[in-house]
Amino acid sequence: MTTKTVFITGASSGIGAGCARKFAANGYRLILNGRNVEKLTTLKEELERDFKCEAFLLPFDVRNRQEAVDGVNALPEDWQAVDVLINNAGLVIGLDKEHEGDLDEWEVVIDTNVKGLLTMTRLLVPGMVARGVGHIINIGSIAGDGAYPGGSVYCATKAAVKALTDGLRIDLVDTPLRVSNIKPGMVETNFSVVRFRGDQVAADRCYQGFQPLTGEDVADTVYYVASAPAHVQIAEVLLMPTQQASATIVHKTGVI
Ligand SMILES: NC(=O)c1ccc[n+]([C@@H]2O[C@H](COP(=O)([O-])OP(=O)(O)OC[C@H]3O[C@@H](n4cnc5c(N)ncnc54)[C@H](OP(=O)(O)O)[C@@H]3O)[C@@H](O)[C@H]2O)c1
Repeated sequence: MTTKTVFITGASSGIGAGCARKFAANGYRLILNGRNVEKLTTLKEELERDFKCEAFLLPFDVRNRQEAVDGVNALPEDWQAVDVLINNAGLVIGLDKEHEGDLDEWEVVIDTNVKGLLTMTRLLVPGMVARGVGHIINIGSIAGDGAYPGGSVYCATKAAVKALTDGLRIDLVDTPLRVSNIKPGMVETNFSVVRFRGDQVAADRCYQGFQPLTGEDVADTVYYVASAPAHVQIAEVLLMPTQQASATIVHKTGVI
């Protein structure tokens, strides 16, 4: 059996790194994208050591279309047949009200979460269609299901991920390809550190008093979705910590 190849954007941290470990443990070859080359190199060394897998680093900023085109075009021939694309790179900056926030920060969020995802889809899906093999797994969010205070732009980007995922599934209905949207609730990763502009204490506070999901928990779901039988297309998964009931309702104990 040929070894399958998974392409993961934003593999240097959190959910993306968790997916890299999960797919490596299950015999996949990995193409690892992100901007932080040092973190990606450390991850590649870890995966090759622990899982004896092959990993190919493709560092670029998904917001930069030319870098993305050049990166994908530079893949060696034996790395071009991607079986699974995990569009995971994403972020939020701040918790500002829509009429008060920083347009430059929001541009970063929109360009990464929406345009970056679309760029990678546009670059990799035609090859999947031509080969008649492929699964696109987008990392959306519970935030895409409804707005919450201070989250309007991030919520809008994740609602866009839902629309792009649903639209792609429709466009590919006459192919064997599958398209899925994984929508996590609260996951303890570097996400909140980025949201709070590097304030680790504020980030840690988000996860006090309950047990959040880990990147590995989400990766388990992503892998489950990817390994379902070929005739089974899991369109969406909404997963949350047990003590979370909606985007804004979390039962925290012992926290003032
Ligand atoms: N944590 C949560 O509670 C949560 C909940 C629902 C959904 N999500 C979604 O899950 C995804 C992963 O987030 P995470 O929680 O794992 O956060 P994280 O630990 O901060 O990881 C984000 C990843 O995205 C990469 N990234 C950011 N901007 C990029 C860019 N322009 N080009 C390429 N890579 C970029 C980062 O790598 P570099 O810095 O190396 O570029 C990093 O590897 C995001 O789409 C996020 O919206 C997270």
